[in-house]
Amino acid sequence: MEALEDVKQQIRLFVQECNDKKSLELLDLLATGKMLRSKLVLKIAGVNVETIKLCAIIEMIHAASLLHDDVIDEADTRRGAPSVNALHDNKTAIMFGDILYSKAFTELSQMDKRVAYTVSNAVTLLSIGEMLDVDLTQSFNSDYDKYIDMIYKKTGSLIEAAAKAAAIMAQKDEEKFALYGKNLGLAFQMIDDILDITQDSETLGKPAMLDFVEGKVTIPYLLLHERIEDKQTLEDLYKVPLNQEQQTWIKDQMIQTGALAEAIKQAKVLGQEAIDALQDENSEDLIMIMKAMIEREF
Ligand code: FPP
Ligand code: MG
Repeated sequence: MEALEDVKQQIRLFVQECNDKKSLELLDLLATGKMLRSKLVLKIAGVNVETIKLCAIIEMIHAASLLHDDVIDEADTRRGAPSVNALHDNKTAIMFGDILYSKAFTELSQMDKRVAYTVSNAVTLLSIGEMLDVDLTQSFNSDYDKYIDMIYKKTGSLIEAAAKAAAIMAQKDEEKFALYGKNLGLAFQMIDDILDITQDSETLGKPAMLDFVEGKVTIPYLLLHERIEDKQTLEDLYKVPLNQEQQTWIKDQMIQTGALAEAIKQAKVLGQEAIDALQDENSEDLIMIMKAMIEREF
């Protein structure tokens, strides 16, 4: 998608406008991801000067949140490359995040009021989501609703806002596109949480089965905890660096109890709900994006 190059160029222009050499150097260190949020905006609202700006703003907010998240999670890698906190230090990652985030808000303040409201409101949710995530890693969380609320805020809210803001710009049915974005975001995070268990380290670009070690009780673990008789053994492995044998035991239990299959099913149900939201919207491309996500190999 050629327009994604325009988005990258726009981000560069925005950072250039900050008149700070170090910020530009740091920008070069950021590996670009899938640009999912931009893809949604461009599919929903088309390619023009305003939509490219909106994409750049959302990607800068997303990048800022990941810069801060890597400090919070003490992560050395991001998207297979060393993170900014690892290459420089925590202070640099936080401050560069602040620069990207505040420049994005400066630009957002110049846009349509409802677009600005939608996106800025999502950033509050995003920040609350991150706080919930950190709180939930303090002790074993077996509350499914808390997990859903957290992933909605942490991951769903900005994707929902991207789709809704694009629909506002294009004068389309904003509620339907918001629902699509929300369900896509939830499914996306659940799939991410499932892949942490089913994929190897090489494919993931980070150690496999790290979530549980880091204190994250994601959906496959939640469902396993619900179903397994020997809850104690599972709880005893929480936040413990897992050896091969322990990893295999967890995976086997997830397969035997059907917890893994149920987690995949729930992600697919959300994906289907995203697709259903766009029934009358002639959005073949958006449906394809969702289908590609849920019909993959787990
Ligand atoms: C990644 O989660 C983190 C997020 C999607 C949101 C992080 C949000 C903040 C730090 C607050 C907002 C801050 C600003 C400046 C806008 P993860 O750790 O589960 O995923 P990962 O494996 O990709 O790190
Ligand atoms: Mg993280």
